[in-house]
Amino acid sequence: MRAAWYFVLLCFAFAEDELKLAEPCDPEVCKLPDCRCSSTLIPGDLHPARTPQFVLLTFDDAVAVTNMPNYKRLLFGRKNSNQCPIGTTFFVSHEYTNYQLVNELYNEGFEIALHSISHMNQTYFENADYETLMREFSDQAELMAHFAALPIHDMQGVRMPFLQMAGNASFQMMKSAGLYYDISMPTISFTNPGMWPYTLDYASTQDCVIPPCPTASIPGVWVVPMISWTDLQGFPCGMADSCFSPPDGNDEDGWFRFIVENFERHYLGNRAPFPFYLHESYFRDRPGFEAAFIRFLDMINSMNDVFMVNAAEAIDWIRNPVPIGEYINQPCRFFMQQRCRPSVCGPLTAPHKTELFWMAACNTCPRTYPWLGNPLGV
Ligand SMILES: *[C@@H]1O[C@H](CO)[C@@H](O)[C@H](O)[C@H]1NC(C)=O
Ligand SMILES: *[C@@H]1O[C@H](CO)[C@@H](O)[C@H](O)[C@H]1NC(C)=O
Ligand SMILES: [Zn+2]
Repeated sequence: MRAAWYFVLLCFAFAEDELKLAEPCDPEVCKLPDCRCSSTLIPGDLHPARTPQFVLLTFDDAVAVTNMPNYKRLLFGRKNSNQCPIGTTFFVSHEYTNYQLVNELYNEGFEIALHSISHMNQTYFENADYETLMREFSDQAELMAHFAALPIHDMQGVRMPFLQMAGNASFQMMKSAGLYYDISMPTISFTNPGMWPYTLDYASTQDCVIPPCPTASIPGVWVVPMISWTDLQGFPCGMADSCFSPPDGNDEDGWFRFIVENFERHYLGNRAPFPFYLHESYFRDRPGFEAAFIRFLDMINSMNDVFMVNAAEAIDWIRNPVPIGEYINQPCRFFMQQRCRPSVCGPLTAPHKTELFWMAACNTCPRTYPWLGNPLGV
């Protein structure tokens, strides 16, 4: 009897048809810090010249020994002009990830975010329901907290694999798992001026590039629209490394101009956060791109109104927008170093493959390779 009632309550809380359709957003009702309508307006009605230009650098997928030399060389030790260490957000997927390295990235001040346990395939995520997404993301936060020795509440961001939306389901999952923001939804209609991040309390006016997109009211969950870059032929690219017509990989000057042109659409416009979304593999065999990337970072790190921050920090600013002069007097991000007690685990059997896995961790070893439904590998 009790179990039956519990089941009824669960259905009531989570069933898709219980969600309310989002109503049009009225900025007089939906106000910061907890609510924001989708819009290209600058938070706090600031003048662009007084608005910090945030740069959101992100890297996706597994964190492994092969990626680490580039992360170290390109990012470690870099500072913004206000002398605060730069931010970068890593959307980590589980398979082949080395959790000692995740711990190291965290201790460098970077943000660790969620990109699913399985990274399965596009059809799977398109059709994923609430329960599936809880196993992919909420369980992943638990997995990373355990094996990378991180505070679980520091994992706040979600990026869907393949940028494949699952309607309301991923946002419902975020709401009940206490996750803060999503960066998975490209926009090609709101690039100039760019759409600033907003909440899903009310109906979004953002274009839906990879349906199904959310239409329900899911209060308090933030969406960071992925403002497209424009490639050399004028086509939009959802991620900087997915352009159809980019400059040649050996052409440093071409790449530098290309990055700056895309940057200036933001910097000389409404200063919506500038997206620089990459996979580490894009640096391989593209020396011109890498040189231009370093040149661009050197340039923005010397500008007194541009700040590379963790994505969660950009949203923190949006919730309480202050002009640059005030922003630069705020303390740099604070976090506690998290000690890793290293272990190398394996060979581990896995439920999804016959292959045996080795996993570097900061905790006692699991019995089997962590996977969907068994994130601690017990
Ligand atoms: C999202 O929820 C709304 C409101 O219940 C519903 O009308 C819509 O069909 C849902 N979207 C999907 C893709 O399930
Ligand atoms: C996607 O993954 C699902 C679940 O593992 C599987 O059943 C399906 O065959 C896969 N589809 C493709 C196109 O690979
Ligand atoms: Zn990915």
